Amino acid sequence: MNIAILGATGLVGKAMIDSLIEENIKVDKLKLFASERSLGQAINFKGKEIPIEIIKEDSFKNMDVVLGAGSKELAKECASKILEAGAVFIDNSSYFRMQEDVPLIVPEINSEDIKKHRGIIANPNCSTIISLMAINAINKLSPIESIIASTYQAVSGAGKEGLNELEEEIKNLDYKPNVFPYPIAYNCIPSIDEASEDDYTKEELKLLYESRKIMHLPDLKVTCTCVRVPTLRSHCISLSIKCKDPLNVEEVKESISKQKGVILYDDLKVKKYPMPIITANQNKVFVGRIRKDNVFDGGIALFCSGDQIRKGAAYNAVSIIKYL
Ligand SMILES: NC(=O)c1ccc[n+]([C@@H]2O[C@H](COP(=O)([O-])OP(=O)(O)OC[C@H]3O[C@@H](n4cnc5c(N)ncnc54)[C@H](OP(=O)(O)O)[C@@H]3O)[C@@H](O)[C@H]2O)c1
Repeated sequence: MNIAILGATGLVGKAMIDSLIEENIKVDKLKLFASERSLGQAINFKGKEIPIEIIKEDSFKNMDVVLGAGSKELAKECASKILEAGAVFIDNSSYFRMQEDVPLIVPEINSEDIKKHRGIIANPNCSTIISLMAINAINKLSPIESIIASTYQAVSGAGKEGLNELEEEIKNLDYKPNVFPYPIAYNCIPSIDEASEDDYTKEELKLLYESRKIMHLPDLKVTCTCVRVPTLRSHCISLSIKCKDPLNVEEVKESISKQKGVILYDDLKVKKYPMPIITANQNKVFVGRIRKDNVFDGGIALFCSGDQIRKGAAYNAVSIIKYL
């Protein structure tokens, strides 16, 4: 297979290269694209130095798959070139996610939807992927009707510049932030992405609209609060869930323990619960703190954590290649 990566020098792009190797994807030719800033650089892939290129009109000729790890503007700009070249575009930006003819895929949940693609497949929002991986097993027990969620999102969710900003602020508390609206060191910021309808942020609405599309639950209700916290990588989400039928904690635990891609990590008495220091740099979503919800009758409360650069982006996209 001939594969190209857009944004190959970023956090997601680099993790895609790692995933291609780890998942044993047979790559005949790999092309790596980034901005002019990265020209002259090369990235090692299986012992071979691959030079960084900038995107040109015919860049995607003979490519089978293009993995998008750039901005939504870059995705929009490149889509027609990729489709004209006959490649499949698996994009990580938010640009195509809610378009009707674009499948939005978490392979462990809705791999059947991949068949409907017409050249573009979208990777969902990172907190959405991690949350849905945690609760997909519950949805199989009884359809989910309502979710209340609070996210704890690592600085690397804002790319390499976000990561750099926290590291600089820790060294120098007078460092002037330019990625986040306030210092993120020793702080948390309850606002990610732009303000949107009804004073929810766009990031919060992604959990609502993308979950409805992925889980085929058009009437799902979601209240979400997204918070940036000073962790380096791995997002966490606290979730309260109400299903059509009342749920019992033991059956939920059993069902989650059988979900592919998920680790049941739950024993409060011995301080066993998901945390970024446990879940960073690997592909599984960890789920714990599973208990009866005290507000939703018959509902469940839980806490999950997963590496948003891997399962929330790069590994999910590379898994889609396997299903393709
Ligand atoms: N980080 C996450 O946790 C995460 C999770 C899910 C989805 N995503 C999405 O994945 C995408 C990439 O995120 P990231 O965190 O990897 O960002 P990042 O670390 O900031 O990397 C951005 C990449 O885009 C490249 N780029 C910027 N402008 C370009 C241009 N004009 N032409 C070609 N390449 C250009 C950069 O190249 P240079 O190095 O040359 O600047 C870099 O390779 C975004 O759409 C993001 O929303 C991110």
